[in-house]
Amino acid sequence: MNSTIAIRIAIAGVGGRMGREIAAAAAGDPAFHIVGGIVRPGRGTEEAGWVSVAGTSAPHARLTADPASLIPDAEALIDFSLPEAVVAHARLCAEYEIPLVCGVTGLTPEQDAALRAAAARTPVYVARNMSVGVGALLAILPDLARLLPGYDIEIVETHHRRKQDAPSGTALALAEALAGPEPDLIFGRQGIAPRRAGEIGMHAVRGGGNPGEHTIVFSGEGDEVRVSHRAFGRRAYADGALRAAAWLIGQRPGLYGPADLRDPSPVLPRPALRAAEALAAADAAARTRSA
Ligand SMILES: NC(=O)c1ccc[n+]([C@@H]2O[C@H](COP(=O)([O-])OP(=O)(O)OC[C@H]3O[C@@H](n4cnc5c(N)ncnc54)[C@H](OP(=O)(O)O)[C@@H]3O)[C@@H](O)[C@H]2O)c1
Repeated sequence: MNSTIAIRIAIAGVGGRMGREIAAAAAGDPAFHIVGGIVRPGRGTEEAGWVSVAGTSAPHARLTADPASLIPDAEALIDFSLPEAVVAHARLCAEYEIPLVCGVTGLTPEQDAALRAAAARTPVYVARNMSVGVGALLAILPDLARLLPGYDIEIVETHHRRKQDAPSGTALALAEALAGPEPDLIFGRQGIAPRRAGEIGMHAVRGGGNPGEHTIVFSGEGDEVRVSHRAFGRRAYADGALRAAAWLIGQRPGLYGPADLRDPSPVLPRPALRAAEALAAADAAARTRSA
């Protein structure tokens, strides 16, 4: 990251697999300063100490089960806790106008609605797959589909044997990037199952320890294009979440996702944004005085 002032981040779910990965990535990057982490109330984790919970040392980082005591100190909250915690975090980010990066998946419609409500007051970035590579894939897929009219599309995703849901949320997001919010999906095929024009075949392979692989196959009569993404581990998602946080703090309130990262124009460096806001406030005050 190219920044002269470290960005102050808080991490919700800091004791979890993703929270620890984000803490490790941020602690090793001078562009970020971790103000602290949020743990589940009542688990006693708070007493365990930062290093034993977050797995990495970060000077002055606080551990708390009280999100309201930490969120106002941060410039962005990165939430990789669990669905039941998302509403409270979203409400607090809205109240204190703190940008929120939410990577939690499996949200109910009510939890989704809380993120949308928060986005009216503060920038909120949501991605079912936070990796930079999948973000790039989501951005280019609509162009690829346009360039390959009439090609049949199939999506093959491979994950470790412990994954519960199928197809993956990422595979669904890829299908939506290709064919809009309600793609015509067929989940595997069995028996007599001829291909319908325009359908997207979804195939889930499960086994071993694969951290996640997605391939989109565009098949024509004479040739085929395959585009693949392979995660090497959780670091891919941690790096993407930090990148999203750095981008988000220069944005206006609103709901953002991976496709927005392709447009660099609205990003204002923080000092420039603050200067612009200070100028706007000064203008408004001058108008009030002269009215
Ligand atoms: N978008 C992406 O790219 C991406 C990538 C990977 C994972 N994810 C999602 O990210 C979430 C976390 O994944 P994970 O693998 O890290 O899960 P995990 O290891 O179970 O971590 C979740 C952590 O959140 C904590 N937590 C629960 N309730 C909390 C609360 N009220 N306040 C603060 N912390 C709380 C849990 O604490 P306890 O242990 O005390 O319950 C746990 O430490 C899941 O929804 C997962 O699907 C998204």
